[in-house]
Amino acid sequence: MTDNKKMELKKDYAGRDFLSLLDYTTEDLTYFLDVADHLKAEKKAGRPIDYLKGKTMGLIFEKSSTRTRVSFESGIYYLGGQGLFLSSNDLQIGRGEPIPDTARVLSRFLDGLMIRTFSHDIVEELAEYASIPVINGLTDLLHPCQVLADLQTIREHKGKLAGLKMAFIGDGNNMAHSLMNGGARMGMHVVCACPEGYLPDAAVVAAAREAAALTGGSVEIVNDPLEAARDADVIYTDVWASMGQESEKAEREAVFGGIYQVNDELMAAAKADAMVLHCLPAHRGEEITAEVFEAHPEIFDEAENRLYAQMAVMALLLA
Ligand code: CP
Ligand code: NVA
Repeated sequence: MTDNKKMELKKDYAGRDFLSLLDYTTEDLTYFLDVADHLKAEKKAGRPIDYLKGKTMGLIFEKSSTRTRVSFESGIYYLGGQGLFLSSNDLQIGRGEPIPDTARVLSRFLDGLMIRTFSHDIVEELAEYASIPVINGLTDLLHPCQVLADLQTIREHKGKLAGLKMAFIGDGNNMAHSLMNGGARMGMHVVCACPEGYLPDAAVVAAAREAAALTGGSVEIVNDPLEAARDADVIYTDVWASMGQESEKAEREAVFGGIYQVNDELMAAAKADAMVLHCLPAHRGEEITAEVFEAHPEIFDEAENRLYAQMAVMALLLA
């Protein structure tokens, strides 16, 4: 029962990198989401989605991962290609081989590269020297693949993105940054509640505000979580201490503890039908209570959509 009428994907994105959501227009991101929805439906229906037959993706990890690793590896496989997990502990970059050399060598072997690393400069340097598409699988600055999946999930549940209010509660980190970027591009009202000293990067906020001005969206930074949550359609949170900040754990707990938490009181300020999203892994009793976490199974729809959002990115960039 093979249906040969596979959707023809646009070739406009072939060869591009995916480093930040702001590198793409509202129309582009809408198309990425449409393709993600299509791949999800086709895969679930058992129809062919082998857009990347014979292609190989290298997946470089300098930090831990469950979702990103497994969704990229299985995603490229479902598209008919092959993923290679490359831990920086085993690669020569772990022993000091320069990124420009690694980029040029891997470009001779592979059709695409994903990297999860620390400094955003590393991803940019890799993309500059690689002749194949480079996908940002998380840096200290941004996590665009996660937010593409988040946008897909919100659109699935709410039927739209523009005009919705999304509150982010917690550290002004990579998640806050990419949510501002993606939300602004899609005409959402993004309010981040973060403590002083842990605010989002000012340059990222300024760029997101510029993007929001084009779509009728907005980006606001406040300190009070209840103010951010008021009448929100989407409540989002993330860990207080990100990967690489393990030594700051106690200090951060003292600042965030008891205040920057998604709990029943905070949910009472949001709309009655507000969604709760979390990029995961979640720390129950810290940024979210176990009760709220368990009452919002859409968090797992969000995790599932990593697969489809990234399949869309790979299918379009490696075409
Ligand atoms: N949300 C996310 O990126 O999860 P992993 O760290 O498990 O990849
Ligand atoms: N802010 C978190 C996100 C994990 C997916 C981190 O960088 O560790």
